[in-house]
Amino acid sequence: MYSEKVMDHFQNPRNVGEIENASGVGTVGNAKCGDIMRIYLDIDENQVIQDCKFKTFGCGAAVATSSMATELVKGKTIREAMEVTNKAVMEALDGLPPVKVHCSLLAEEAIHAALWDYAEKNGIKIEGLEKPKSDIHEGEEEEEEVY
Ligand code: FES
Repeated sequence: MYSEKVMDHFQNPRNVGEIENASGVGTVGNAKCGDIMRIYLDIDENQVIQDCKFKTFGCGAAVATSSMATELVKGKTIREAMEVTNKAVMEALDGLPPVKVHCSLLAEEAIHAALWDYAEKNGIKIEGLEKPKSDIHEGEEEEEEVY
């Protein structure tokens, strides 16, 4: 039921971890299952994403989509990163079962939340970016993290 790419990214997730002094950090919760995702972005002075890492308390599909999403945004400008939607991530993974589509939203929403954090810290506006709906504050879910 899962594509080879999903299994690969689930079994060998890329970019798991955290970035110290990240340019932007976003943590979101999935309203459907209660799972949590945190994304760290390292953005340089040209607004290029140099590094991206994630930590999650989420299912295998969330791990695989976040792994792929972090790979896709690395090296992109923040404007290009806005185009990395959950649909684009799912396409890159050769699809997800319909019941798992909501899991892929975690990565997209956490990247947006991290970009929002970066924009706020730097006093800039990113076109098309909206305030994250479900940002969770640092520390609230510390003990539940598995990655
Ligand atoms: Fe919660 Fe997949 S079931 S993220």
